[in-house]
Amino acid sequence: MLAVLALALPLALPPVGNLTFAQTAPEAEPEDPSILPAGDGQEETFYACSACHSTAIIRRSAFTREQWDGLMDWMVEKQGMNPLEAADRRQIVDYLAQHFGPRASPRGRNPFLN
Ligand code: HEC
Repeated sequence: MLAVLALALPLALPPVGNLTFAQTAPEAEPEDPSILPAGDGQEETFYACSACHSTAIIRRSAFTREQWDGLMDWMVEKQGMNPLEAADRRQIVDYLAQHFGPRASPRGRNPFLN
């Protein structure tokens, strides 16, 4: 029931330094899961991770699996994310590591198509 959890999270957060880009980036349409690369975990990741910020902050990141896993703890401890269930967390971290790992760095992509 990730979607329900995500919707229950606070939607209004004060502006934070690192989010400037995400908040000011022109997003003409509301995002939906297809903004993320297709694959196992696409929807779960989208609904768990887009409650507080746009997925731009994810799409421009390139972390190892260990770093993504650590980020889940940081998001819970420092940003108030509801802890993910173990199976969901594994699926989401696998998905993030596969699509947003160091080798699939968004920095290598055309920013105008991002
Ligand atoms: C409860 C709200 C919340 C949820 C849910 C959330 N985040 Fe975040 N996240 C934040 C906030 C707030 C920041 C900015 C913190 C800052 O600027 O220091 C952030 C920052 C980030 C960053 C940037 C980290 C950096 O410093 O480079 C990434 C990547 C990220 N989130 C990924 C995710 C992923 C992946 C998920 C889903 C598993 C997720 N977030 C879910 C609140 C949330």
